[in-house]
Amino acid sequence: MRQDAFRLISPDGTESEMKIHRGTMGPDVIDIGALYREQGVFTYDPGFVATGSCASKITYIDGEQGVLMYRGYPVEQLAKHSSFIEVSYLLLHGSLPSADELAEFDRTIRVHTMLNEGMLNFFKGFRYDAHPMAILSAVVGSMSAYYHDTTDADNPEHRDIFAHRILAKLPTIAAAAYKLNVGQPFIYPRNDLNYCENLLHMLFAVPAEPYQIDPIAAEALDLLFILHADHEQNCSTSTVRMAGSSGANPYSAIAAGISALWGPAHGGANEAVLEMLEEIGDASQIGKFVDKAKDRNDPFRLMGFGHRVYKNFDPRATIIREMAHKVLGQLGRADTPLLNLALELEQVALKDEYFIEKNLYPNVDFYSGIIYRALGIPTSMFTVMFAIGRSVGWTAHWREMITDPNGKISRPRQLYTGSAERDYIPIDKR
Ligand code: ACO
Repeated sequence: MRQDAFRLISPDGTESEMKIHRGTMGPDVIDIGALYREQGVFTYDPGFVATGSCASKITYIDGEQGVLMYRGYPVEQLAKHSSFIEVSYLLLHGSLPSADELAEFDRTIRVHTMLNEGMLNFFKGFRYDAHPMAILSAVVGSMSAYYHDTTDADNPEHRDIFAHRILAKLPTIAAAAYKLNVGQPFIYPRNDLNYCENLLHMLFAVPAEPYQIDPIAAEALDLLFILHADHEQNCSTSTVRMAGSSGANPYSAIAAGISALWGPAHGGANEAVLEMLEEIGDASQIGKFVDKAKDRNDPFRLMGFGHRVYKNFDPRATIIREMAHKVLGQLGRADTPLLNLALELEQVALKDEYFIEKNLYPNVDFYSGIIYRALGIPTSMFTVMFAIGRSVGWTAHWREMITDPNGKISRPRQLYTGSAERDYIPIDKR
């Protein structure tokens, strides 16, 4: 028996040797590709709790130690020294850019910010109060209708242009969705502004008066986007990989990822945190809501707490917590009741036996909403902001998946628990 293999013996004594793959870091994985052929059984792992769906070189997470690295660089270092545009280059290309490469990448993203003018008509078809996440996924899905000249997944140039378009146009689409909601005219992008300044300009400028971009707001957004940029095989990224694995055009794969992100158990949690804090309303009510979260018969959960992978702390939450204080301090809103309520809730939960025992810590979404609120971004836009940051991670994973020589269409199997075979009964006999 090889040392690098796992031996599986079925109840009838059939033996199979499963190869063990070792990554650069992290737990080994057992290659069960031959299991059904050799043993006639599938594995069963709802929610992929112990299943690696692919090999990836992009992001590494150690949930026990609270470690997150993009292409080997700790997120703390990137948050401190890098920018979202540089991190985007890193995620897409695998290494940090030279000064010239960064300048060229930055220029390319800036010149792709406009939307095909025909797409603006698309926005007019939505109801004025449509949720911006619904608009975002629909409009991104429609990009394959406007930019179908570059959807050949086998063409590296097409893959590059697709990546640039997603990164550059998502803020424009997001801002247009917001403007529709608030009944203001769409504001065209300004390519003299950097990524986050331009987003703030498109969100908050109006034709009637000049708009002053707050550098703290741009800095805070840049940090949030760095922290949201990728998170290995999370629900939305896995969705992008799965949709893209059929050879579907990449814009529809990203639209599928946006839809998956919207759920409150995933990116929708930042919106849910603010709604929860507003519902709690006052520190005197915290105990009642913590008790509700602990009650097995009550579906209520403390939003912004818990994570499938992080069981000690979420390193992104630590960085964002600091930024929340900085933003609120510098914008003169340090005494905001919402932040104080969030901090009190955090303290109560962190000391509570239930949360300690189940390793439930504040996640990235617990604080991001507080920053967005301080910047004047409405609650319904929180998950949209998350999507802008995550779009580069989705794109990097789509590129890795589509160029993987071992790539296959994603097609899980199942444990069938439905009815056994039965005969059709004519309607008059039922
Ligand atoms: N409040 C109260 N109890 C919780 C919470 C919570 N926020 N999260 C988990 N639990 C409990 C569960 O009830 C369960 O208890 P049990 O063992 O007695 O049944 C146990 O902790 C384990 O929870 P699971 O749901 O099995 O853990 P899973 O890894 O599947 O879920 C998830 C992780 C979805 C993030 C969960 O913690 C949750 O719903 N949190 C709130 C929503 C949230 O903040 N989502 C954002 C995640 S970060 C992101 O996507 C960017």
